[in-house]
Amino acid sequence: MRGSAKVLEEMEKQLGIRAGETTPDMEFTLEIVACIGACALAPTMTVDDETFGKMTTKKVAEVLGDIKKGTDKKRGIYICQGTGCVSGKSLEITEALKKAIAEKNLTDIEVGFTGCRGFCEQGPVAIVQPEDIFYAHVTVADVPDIV
Ligand code: FES
Repeated sequence: MRGSAKVLEEMEKQLGIRAGETTPDMEFTLEIVACIGACALAPTMTVDDETFGKMTTKKVAEVLGDIKKGTDKKRGIYICQGTGCVSGKSLEITEALKKAIAEKNLTDIEVGFTGCRGFCEQGPVAIVQPEDIFYAHVTVADVPDIV
């Protein structure tokens, strides 16, 4: 859907493996999943705990390059964009976070997203990296305290 087959094909080409296989250095295993709960951002992929949305064949090289260089783990606030959290206004929270961070000129902090984390009943949820701080039942009113 939405180009995921081409993204998978590019990933297989760049890693030199097929879906279901692991690279000889054991660094990457490529798996296909049915859904990570972030359909609005499709095609998506996850690497460890990080989610990458709106993937394109061009972004494959960029993401793999960052992972290999160890620069993929950024300092940031990641809001769940799964359908449960979106219905709890996670998109509005994301925009409020971006605005608050820009106002404070915190240029080293990224505002990103994740797919469903499996805590839908506690949503919207947010995670602050690299500290792994987890926030549940986040609202726009919580944004100043989080930032
Ligand atoms: S939709 Fe956000 S945790 Fe499931």
